[in-house]
Amino acid sequence: MPPKVPFHRPSVSERERAYLLEALEGRYWGSGPWVERLEAALQNLYGREAVVVSSGTAALHLAYMLLLGKEGGEVIVPTWTFTATASEVVHAGGVPVVVDVGPSLHLTVEQVEAALSPRTRGVVVMHYAGAPAPVREIVAFCRERGLWVVEDACHAVPAYVEGRLCGTFGDIATLSFHATKPVAAGQGGALLLSDPVLAEKARRLRTHGIRRTPGQPWSYEVESLGWNYRLSDFQAAVALAQIEQLTELWQARKRLAVLYQALLQDYPWLRPYPVPAADSSAWHLFPVFWSGATAQQRDALLYRLYAQGFELSVHYKPLHRHKAYQPYLPSGQTFPIAEKAYNEVFSLPLWPGLPDEAIFELVARLGKETHFPSFPTS
Ligand SMILES: Cc1ncc(COP(=O)(O)O)c(C=O)c1O
Repeated sequence: MPPKVPFHRPSVSERERAYLLEALEGRYWGSGPWVERLEAALQNLYGREAVVVSSGTAALHLAYMLLLGKEGGEVIVPTWTFTATASEVVHAGGVPVVVDVGPSLHLTVEQVEAALSPRTRGVVVMHYAGAPAPVREIVAFCRERGLWVVEDACHAVPAYVEGRLCGTFGDIATLSFHATKPVAAGQGGALLLSDPVLAEKARRLRTHGIRRTPGQPWSYEVESLGWNYRLSDFQAAVALAQIEQLTELWQARKRLAVLYQALLQDYPWLRPYPVPAADSSAWHLFPVFWSGATAQQRDALLYRLYAQGFELSVHYKPLHRHKAYQPYLPSGQTFPIAEKAYNEVFSLPLWPGLPDEAIFELVARLGKETHFPSFPTS
């Protein structure tokens, strides 16, 4: 039986329905006019070149391919992220160097500095949960040392640092339109860049490395070996509809996040992930930290709530805890901040259209299920 309150539910309006039907009737179906429209909308929003691809993972892969080139090298990656942030470094011929995060669960300049080596080529900044990472400081630090920055903005549509959109700071930024993301299309992603030469290369690599002969649609040359990372027009149509409603979708997430924050004040042992200002975050996730809990207690809690019809999640089991990342942990590196956060963290459902009553009920149940006798109740 599906949960009474699912962890996510993409929002569907008349606009998604109409665009999807138009794409269907348009009979292009491949990467066609709707992908072009989506790219134009992203270019307009971010003021950068936008290259739409089949997923956020594909966007990261191409970003690292473009920036690492044939030389490879090391890329500093936060442990507090999804696997794609780091796996694509390996697939692009580089070596991820997995490091701990600061108290906001973002990478900090200090951690980047401590992980530098003569082989370091770049750094990935991930805007966790949609809240802005200290990207300005990290970009300034990297510029002075000739390092590049990839901004993994897959959670952050839209998020802001002092009024400037996340996704406009790094040499390349990546977006995801996966079903759970603030702008969803089932699957999909994009690269945002300022360098038109790199943008052109990204366009070629997403289409098998093919350059078409102008005026001869039947003729092409495979200039380099690439991939099929194209997005279909169906997905682009849905993503475009969501981008056009971004303000409403964002406001809806924000309102629910503020409601969660207010209700959780009754349970001081449940600490919402601190976000500097409601207007700075995309509110992709609403993480909560259960003070003093162990991972086993947290998992048991999620199980009990699931049995009651509430689907929660965990973001993240950090990379350094996964088998595949053991070769990429610098020797002597410890992860005290991520370790503590992993024990205590869970994410609450947050999606436009989530009924307020579901939030009232969930927070009340959470309060009851998580109270340790050592915490004062008033
Ligand atoms: C931080 C982060 N980066 C990258 C990705 C990959 O995006 P996609 O699922 O579109 O491949 C995700 C997806 O969950 C993510 O959370």
